[in-house]
Amino acid sequence: MNLEDAKKKLEQYGQMHVLKYYDELTDSEKKELLAQIEDTDFAVTENCKNLGKGGERGKFAPLAAMQVDEIDRRRDELFSIGKKALKEGRVAACLLAGGMGTRLGSDDPKGMYNIGLTKPVYIFQRLIENLMDTVKSADNTYIRLFIMTSEKNNDATIAFLKEKNFFGYPGDKVTFFKQDMAPASDYEGRVYMESKSRISTSPNGNAGWYASMLRAGLRDIILKEGIEWIDIFAVDNVLQRIADPCFVGATLSAGVSCGAKVVRKNAPDEKVGVMCLEDGKPSIVEYYELSQQMMDARDENGDPAYNYGVILNYLFNEKALFEISQKTLPLHVVEKKIPYIDENANLIKPDKPNGCKFEQLVLDMIHELPSCLPYEVVREHEFAPIKNREGVDSVESARDLCRLNGIEL
Ligand code: UTP
Repeated sequence: MNLEDAKKKLEQYGQMHVLKYYDELTDSEKKELLAQIEDTDFAVTENCKNLGKGGERGKFAPLAAMQVDEIDRRRDELFSIGKKALKEGRVAACLLAGGMGTRLGSDDPKGMYNIGLTKPVYIFQRLIENLMDTVKSADNTYIRLFIMTSEKNNDATIAFLKEKNFFGYPGDKVTFFKQDMAPASDYEGRVYMESKSRISTSPNGNAGWYASMLRAGLRDIILKEGIEWIDIFAVDNVLQRIADPCFVGATLSAGVSCGAKVVRKNAPDEKVGVMCLEDGKPSIVEYYELSQQMMDARDENGDPAYNYGVILNYLFNEKALFEISQKTLPLHVVEKKIPYIDENANLIKPDKPNGCKFEQLVLDMIHELPSCLPYEVVREHEFAPIKNREGVDSVESARDLCRLNGIEL
């Protein structure tokens, strides 16, 4: 894009301040900034006026989960269906590692965080060890592992995993791709600048993975290798079971387009999103959207009807995702701390939120699909998220849960 076109685009969206330092930039910085202006979708910043306003929701109804006792009863049958699919190469895994991990407060990618006490135990290492359990249960079938990074952490993630030899996973089974970015703005929708030549950006949310995968041309691999199912999982749950045969078998045998791992809530008002139906389609109701009536509602066994929280581990049918890939998912506006340069071009790292980021969320992706099976897992065995340094969902709580599961740290 040339300077004239860049000016036109910026004027259209009221973002002319982006060029404030243009004349001072080197030729290569000028080129980079013009390219970034060309790539940036400034229209998203208009959504900042929706900060704090939940979108319109439909009519909620409960969605029954496959519970642990049923899974235990059918374990052999589910295991053999899943194992067969794994051995046939029809299942891949996709690690969502594009997030910024701001709450953990480390400058490195979250997966590089070492939770070990007597020896190094990196988060990435824990995840690969868990994936190896799946490999072993499918007679040493290594499944394709996609890893989504972002522009901010891609090089560090790849360098680290290569240096560690992928913790024993074969490198030719690992495929990286970068998540798309969205601009970050102040509360009026003016984009922040993170340097004189760069607009502040952040990854575009945990639903950005499939569109980013398509843009990276990875559907070729999916089709060539006959991958039909993709298990996506968060980087920060160190007890994560990945594409485990029973989960795969349960989702396939239910004939649904998606399986969702869920845990039984530990209190009616626990702060987790709950699987449900919304206008007859699978959806997730956020904890703050649960009315008292929904919290009190009971199923036919007398158990709470909205009782299963999601843990960001989903098995998606790839064809079903491809079919909905043309749909535009809603944008969620989140208030965050955004580093920026002030009027004297000094970089400021705010200690309080100062603006908006724009994200697409996986819950909206699920809502586009015709069906979903919530699959119950035991919290103490499969859910140890690391979001914070201390307290709830922290390095400390995850270490306790690792010890409980016999994992040496
Ligand atoms: P979180 O919602 O915890 O966000 O991500 P985060 O960015 O990692 O951490 P905070 O909120 O800044 O502290 C849940 C999972 O989704 C991935 C994260 O890497 C993590 O595995 N994610 C999130 C992405 O891959 N891309 C995103 O844009 C957001």
